[in-house]
Amino acid sequence: MQSDSIAVLGAGVMGRSITALALGRGVDVVLVDVSDAALRDARTDIAQHLRHGQFMGVLPSGRTPGALTTTLSAEDAAGAASVIEAITEDASAKARVMAEISALVPPGVPLITNTSGIPVAELAKSVQRPAELAGVHFMNPAYLIEMVEVVRGPRTGDATMTAVLSLLERLGKKTVVVRDAPGFVTSRLLHPMINEAARIVSEGTASVESVDLLMRGCLGHPTGPLRTADLIGLDNLADALRLLAERTGNSTFEPCELLMEKVRRGDLGRKTGRGFYDYGEVLS
Ligand SMILES: NC(=O)c1ccc[n+]([C@@H]2O[C@H](COP(=O)([O-])OP(=O)(O)OC[C@H]3O[C@@H](n4cnc5c(N)ncnc54)[C@H](O)[C@@H]3O)[C@@H](O)[C@H]2O)c1
Repeated sequence: MQSDSIAVLGAGVMGRSITALALGRGVDVVLVDVSDAALRDARTDIAQHLRHGQFMGVLPSGRTPGALTTTLSAEDAAGAASVIEAITEDASAKARVMAEISALVPPGVPLITNTSGIPVAELAKSVQRPAELAGVHFMNPAYLIEMVEVVRGPRTGDATMTAVLSLLERLGKKTVVVRDAPGFVTSRLLHPMINEAARIVSEGTASVESVDLLMRGCLGHPTGPLRTADLIGLDNLADALRLLAERTGNSTFEPCELLMEKVRRGDLGRKTGRGFYDYGEVLS
């Protein structure tokens, strides 16, 4: 392992694409998950993401990728130069993981949360050195989308911001720094829009396809909100909307019934092969 390796906690949709991004830029990664099956599938997906990123010209080709270590033990992350947390959007699970990793790494190692919208200030209560925690909201897929939203919590220190921005530069990312708030900027805007798009469908105003076509053709949205929802994962979207409703006190952010129905059925979007659209097979 290189001395500037990163640890990624959570080998789901985001953990896999953040890992591919780092490996593609020549950075070694220790990828940690609680599920052996998730780590096994992650190894296959990450190899595909790497090929895709190189094919699309967003990851350098002809460069030796970083080395990947997958593990069930967070202790293996202790030697990393920075840690990116990308576990399930569950505030208490994140608090536990943050407390655990913060006790394992030495001072000076930036802890980065990829939460979609839990305030950094809230997660900072669980770590030993709150000045070393910042938010980086990678977009999905992380290796493909050039811009990231960087969240400076009220207790995030200057040295941490410098280290995080320098890591992101090394990963080829453009950054916009925002202040801490539930949902930050991107989830605060995108998630309610997707929720409303699903409400429009359930009220019978337009079909899934028509909503996306109108948003693409009239308003320049790249894929349409409901196809984006499938890419994000409907379970993650529902969790993030619920957290947004709780943290802002605005009940219109509560995930709508159509979204919840799909989550209960296990139709979670591309990762299960069906969400608002049918993909015929499980895509990653
Ligand atoms: N999906 C997106 O488009 C997207 C975009 C930006 C940010 N995010 C955020 O990124 C984070 C991850 O989202 P995702 O879509 O990858 O979720 P996911 O459900 O695809 O994956 C979560 C992974 O975390 C693992 N996990 C759970 N508890 C763990 C623990 N204690 N230690 C290690 N691993 C653990 C799970 O086994 C699972 O593999 C969330 O906070 C989410 O809000 C998601």
